[in-house]
Amino acid sequence: MKKMNLFARKLAVVLSVAAMGFASQASAELDGAKLYIEKTCITCHGADAKTPIMPLYPKLAGQNYEYLKQQALDIKNGKRTNGMATSMMGIAQMATDEEIDAIVKYISTLPAQ
Ligand code: HEC
Repeated sequence: MKKMNLFARKLAVVLSVAAMGFASQASAELDGAKLYIEKTCITCHGADAKTPIMPLYPKLAGQNYEYLKQQALDIKNGKRTNGMATSMMGIAQMATDEEIDAIVKYISTLPAQ
């Protein structure tokens, strides 16, 4: 019984270490700056994320991460359809939630001015 518990505990440690390794590897693979270009966010929001192609399109650089993420996901999921939001919906749907997360994390670190 005691031996079994020890084995179970060792197994739990091994599994959690493996899971942590996997999680950090997965997030390290997502490069927000690269995805901002690859997912074509750059074509509408500009290279610095504050030079949109139209005055009706928002500047994003330096905005709070939580806000950017919520808005991007709302546009992707069709919850936000006001203004010009639907023009971005198709593009947002080509990115996974994890990719959007990495992109907006990157955008939030860019200087607003
Ligand atoms: C086709 C042009 C276009 C592309 C491509 C595009 N967007 Fe947008 N985006 C918009 C427009 C237009 C809005 C404003 C919608 C509105 O009028 O409410 C917007 C709004 C946003 C907002 C909310 C800003 C705010 O202040 O509420 C975020 C965040 C955002 N985009 C992120 C992204 C990301 C990330 C990508 C790439 C996956 C992307 N956008 C690609 C056009 C685009």
